[in-house]
Amino acid sequence: MATFQTLPGFREFYPEDCARRNHIFRLWRQSAGTYGFAEYDAPVLEPLDLYKAKSGNEIEAQLFSFTDKGGREVALRPEMTPTVCRLVGARASALKRPVKWFSIGEFYRYERMQKGRGRCFFQFNADIFGEPGPEAETELIALLIQCFRSFGLTADDFYVRLSDRNLWFYYLEALGLDQPQARSILGAIDKYDKLGAEAFSDYARDFGALPPVLMEKILSFLAIKSLPALEAQLAALAGEKLGARLADWKKLLGALAAMGLERFVEVDLGVVRGLAYYTGFVFEAFDRKGDLRALAGGGRYDDLVEKLGGPAFPAVGFAIGDMTVALLLEQRGLMPTLIQSPDVYAVIGGAQERLAAFADINELRACGFRLEYPMKELAFGKQFKAAAESGAKLALIYGGDELAKGVVKIRDLAQRTEIEVPRDQVVASVRDFMTGASRLA
Ligand code: HAM
Repeated sequence: MATFQTLPGFREFYPEDCARRNHIFRLWRQSAGTYGFAEYDAPVLEPLDLYKAKSGNEIEAQLFSFTDKGGREVALRPEMTPTVCRLVGARASALKRPVKWFSIGEFYRYERMQKGRGRCFFQFNADIFGEPGPEAETELIALLIQCFRSFGLTADDFYVRLSDRNLWFYYLEALGLDQPQARSILGAIDKYDKLGAEAFSDYARDFGALPPVLMEKILSFLAIKSLPALEAQLAALAGEKLGARLADWKKLLGALAAMGLERFVEVDLGVVRGLAYYTGFVFEAFDRKGDLRALAGGGRYDDLVEKLGGPAFPAVGFAIGDMTVALLLEQRGLMPTLIQSPDVYAVIGGAQERLAAFADINELRACGFRLEYPMKELAFGKQFKAAAESGAKLALIYGGDELAKGVVKIRDLAQRTEIEVPRDQVVASVRDFMTGASRLA
């Protein structure tokens, strides 16, 4: 018989995996709620054109795309950003600004598989539309940090690297480079961590070798790790655009410091982000030990709504991936055991008793209690064993003797105490016990 396996990079979620995933989603949702973000959702299959020339070469090369039966070129979504731009763009005039939205969904990229990277993964996306100033970045970076802290992670576990594509463009312009040259340099900076000087080979091919003086200036700008260092480097280049940009940096870092978040954020101009649409501040979150791939990434993309056919609409956002977050939580022992035990296990004598028990079982479940019982008739001993193994707090015992007397036994499985209650008081007694209002004497 042929055996079928999942496609490489695709995941199956057994109940314990699903419980872990839901734990992550629950805390993301909770954080987004406290920051006033509203949840939205959208299709997983989109027109291929939505990503072409918008997301960037790397994502385009990783698309799962095909022609559907109607002859349409389609792709499984590799990210949410173009989609959310379409949603917001289509209702731009009706939406109350700023628009603060979040979503949790599955995404698909044909990537080389490695630790923390798969071909399908979940992302939490949060985006703000309609706010051009760094107040939007403040809100988003604070939310990003809260999303990690809600699991119990601290500034010793993760941090956010903050950078700025505008600043890079202004700086490279001040050094005498034009737009195409500056773009190529940013492409090299994106790869510099991995490739070192080799990263500049595309630039050399297209524009000739960078003069050593320029290379030195670019590498020292790349090495900037603090606001004072940034100010010092820019002092010699004073200009209106650079000055205004520095003021934005101070506003953003000042606001984050006022929130007590400065330990979570580091200036790092080595981050420029590979995606094509970013226009201003960009940021990525990493684990402090540097063991894992990026936990999250985002930035400002003021032109994308308009490029996708909507009105001009400033935007900033980020996405956290579930795979690296799960690895980090496991590493730090912060992933709880999550399979829930029943509250009550019903131990049932025979066929007659079973019918009597069903009325209470159904009513208790309707009240919201988690209740289990054996599907088949079993000896009492086996049922008590199953009740203990299930982790239930209470056993309800429906034996022939009890039913003849018109009562049910309720046993506290931890304390090994029990009482008899009249049939019509079973639900009330279970509720009192489970809410702590009474104990079984
Ligand atoms: P991104 O940096 O491509 O940004 O992805 C964000 C996060 O998604 C990554 O930091 C990583 O945690 C996770 N991720 C990405 N690819 C994979 C993969 N193959 N396997 C597992 N996890 C992965 C974006 O997607 C932007 N659209 C984020 C954004 C939202 N920018 C503005 N708004």
